[in-house]
Amino acid sequence: MSKALDTATAPSLGTAITAGYEKRLMVTAGRASQELGAKITSRLALEPVDPGLKTFADGEVYCRYGESIRGADLFIVQSICASEREGLTPNDALMELLLMIHAAKHASAHRIIAVCPWYGYSRQDKKSAPREPISARLVAELLEVAGIDRLVTMDLHAGQMQGFFSKTVDHMTAMPILTQFVQDNIGDQDLTIIAPDAGRVKLVKNFARKVGAPYALLEKERPAQGVAEIGHVIGDVKDKTAVIVDDIIGTGGTLAAAAQTVMDEGARRVYAVATHGLFAGNAFQTLDDSPLEGIVVTDTVPLRSGAPSMVRQLTSADILTDSIRRIFLDDSVSEIFAGENQLF
Ligand code: R5P
Repeated sequence: MSKALDTATAPSLGTAITAGYEKRLMVTAGRASQELGAKITSRLALEPVDPGLKTFADGEVYCRYGESIRGADLFIVQSICASEREGLTPNDALMELLLMIHAAKHASAHRIIAVCPWYGYSRQDKKSAPREPISARLVAELLEVAGIDRLVTMDLHAGQMQGFFSKTVDHMTAMPILTQFVQDNIGDQDLTIIAPDAGRVKLVKNFARKVGAPYALLEKERPAQGVAEIGHVIGDVKDKTAVIVDDIIGTGGTLAAAAQTVMDEGARRVYAVATHGLFAGNAFQTLDDSPLEGIVVTDTVPLRSGAPSMVRQLTSADILTDSIRRIFLDDSVSEIFAGENQLF
């Protein structure tokens, strides 16, 4: 749209001249979040901006937007995750995201908002042993150097990670989707909500309050990377329907061990809900072999093929679309969660 600067009618002693043109909201998506991006743009009744992504023969990535994004608020949807369909690793997705941000900066977008519902590397948010990197912090620095003005993300592994950014972080949660599912589908049974490790206690306490059920805690040890062992159960699971609530399903080891423990302690049946279903390695087999009767995740990460029928995916697109709309309009984002998005 061409714009006119009306100096003739501007107040002579004012401090600003208004241009009289409308703000533009544009949305694009990387190849790791094509489907989620399409759900968001269809809810906004928009066509996505083509980011013109290509992979060269040597594996380098290229990006060139298919139209002008000058002056627009550009929302770039890309979880930092693998995409089986596109043959991407999380590192490919991250590099692609950085290039999309950088291209947008040099194409003079007004605001660049990275929408990364799954923030890859978030589990490496501190040094747990000497000589390790703090990878989640490095990802934050990379996003800022590339040129983001803002980050929209969902159920960070640790909410404190927001402090890695000097830019604004909108921390969304999928908990309303998951609590609603439990209330609608499992809610009439004798429920207990289970925290699979100490890190999820606050989340599970809030989840249990929302669904009106008691909660129990498991004591998890990681004797080696990727190995989960459950020790004690703190709380009553006997004759209960147990719902394990976690933020991430990686190898499925945590959930399988947690499900076995609560069944050994006398639970009648066991389900699991989590925001980010990575299902890495042999996760589907591990979970299929476990006592879990059902698993619900959201679509922050594309569901790998071969999921057993007990895995169900719900969409996070409604919450993300609402957030995008509100950020664009400078409306309250926490209103979506009645102010409780920082509590999880
Ligand atoms: C750990 O603190 C997380 O909340 C998850 O429990 C963990 O990342 C799940 O990983 P996995 O499925 O590989 O056991």
